[in-house]
Amino acid sequence: MLGRGASFLKYSSVASVPALTAPDPHVSLRDGMNLAKSSSARKRIAVIPGDGIGKEVIPEAVKVLQAAAASAGREVALTEFDWGADRYLRDGTTLPADVVAMLHRDFDAILLGAMGDPRVPTNIHAAEILLGLRFKLDLYVNARPCVLFDKRFTPLKDRSEKDVNFIVFRENTEGPYVGMGGNFKKGTADEVAIQEDVNTRKGVERIIRYAFEFARSRGLKRLCMSDKSNALTFGHDLWQRVFKEVRAEYPGIESSHQYIDNLLMQMVRDPGQFQVIVTSNLFGDIASDLGAQLAGGLGLAPSGNIHPGQVSLFEPVHGSAPNIAGKGIANPMGAILTVGMMFEFLGWQAEAQAIDKAVRAALKEGKTPAELGGALATREVGDWVANTVAKSGGAR
Ligand code: NAD
Ligand code: IPM
Ligand code: MN
Repeated sequence: MLGRGASFLKYSSVASVPALTAPDPHVSLRDGMNLAKSSSARKRIAVIPGDGIGKEVIPEAVKVLQAAAASAGREVALTEFDWGADRYLRDGTTLPADVVAMLHRDFDAILLGAMGDPRVPTNIHAAEILLGLRFKLDLYVNARPCVLFDKRFTPLKDRSEKDVNFIVFRENTEGPYVGMGGNFKKGTADEVAIQEDVNTRKGVERIIRYAFEFARSRGLKRLCMSDKSNALTFGHDLWQRVFKEVRAEYPGIESSHQYIDNLLMQMVRDPGQFQVIVTSNLFGDIASDLGAQLAGGLGLAPSGNIHPGQVSLFEPVHGSAPNIAGKGIANPMGAILTVGMMFEFLGWQAEAQAIDKAVRAALKEGKTPAELGGALATREVGDWVANTVAKSGGAR
């Protein structure tokens, strides 16, 4: 259950939205909503750089993490894991057998880069590691804020910060992602391929409820549920029925429904209408890449895979980007903002805010990589943000 009393801004500042009733006109992704299981001051973080640009952006994110923690006198213990394509190709390991118990026991949070490598065309290692962790740790909330920090970076004409300021809650443990199905007569002209779309009462209810609780605890007024119930008349009819029940418990929130095709169009046409979007696993994957671009670029987008109160996983929204991997030009800002989301989850609000402010400053001052039209290398962006965070004294 989400906590109350958001304390300060992070993703989705809604200062521009009228009719707010909350005393603090800001949105936060942390704050009780995701109370970490360990109340000790020292936080234990598993770091999985993964593949491609994951290996380039995660060191920068870690640099910023350490700068923020050090300047605020916080103690972090980082443990790196080499799970990814290299390890898989070397010895066949995707996830070790005891991974779930180990992560629950020894860690408060996980920071992951990206999974995906052209040398593994089946993507089997990525499915087992990334989807495996989401499923096995039951990380049912995939929180993906789409917040425009500086209007120069949106591709939308005549739109500014107030227009792109919403969060997508993506169901993260069900849908077609569960891997139920198979092939019959594979490789023949009569081949049948089946991929089941799994929607459970429990799974649908908990993500919809989470989105409403998030909205309520942040004083947000608008929530939109998106599905394709006009075509998917079994699975998404369940979404309709659950939504109807849950929304009745939140009369203070103006809740609406849009079919996913319309939702994506509306995100481009008039993104300012959205504050909280909740949708299924596959649709949320698609909507969050679109939302990331509206907010400036995929390389800027952070995310959290969360099970409230349990070890949770934080990663940038982007993938391993093989087309730019190894060039040192990837944007590390999404990974850096992801550390901010992780800090929020861990209850380190001031440190999260310091990271957020430093990224905003980098954007304002043009300390940007190629993705955002700048000339800085991945490492230079990381250095600049880390130095700015260090100078801010952790903002405590
Ligand atoms: P991608 O996100 O890797 O890249 C899409 C496009 O965005 C590319 O042009 C890329 O260069 C650009 N881009 C992405 N991140 C960037 C950054 N930080 N800075 C600058 N540009 C950036 O998606 P894709 O190309 O569809 O997939 C590549 C691989 O990554 C595939 O194996 C895919 O399965 C995997 N993937 C993994 C994750 C994850 O681990 N969470 C997410 C998405 C894709
Ligand atoms: C993401 C990615 C993954 C997903 C892929 C790599 C399986 O696109 O995290 O958004 O679809 O969930
Ligand atoms: Mn995706």
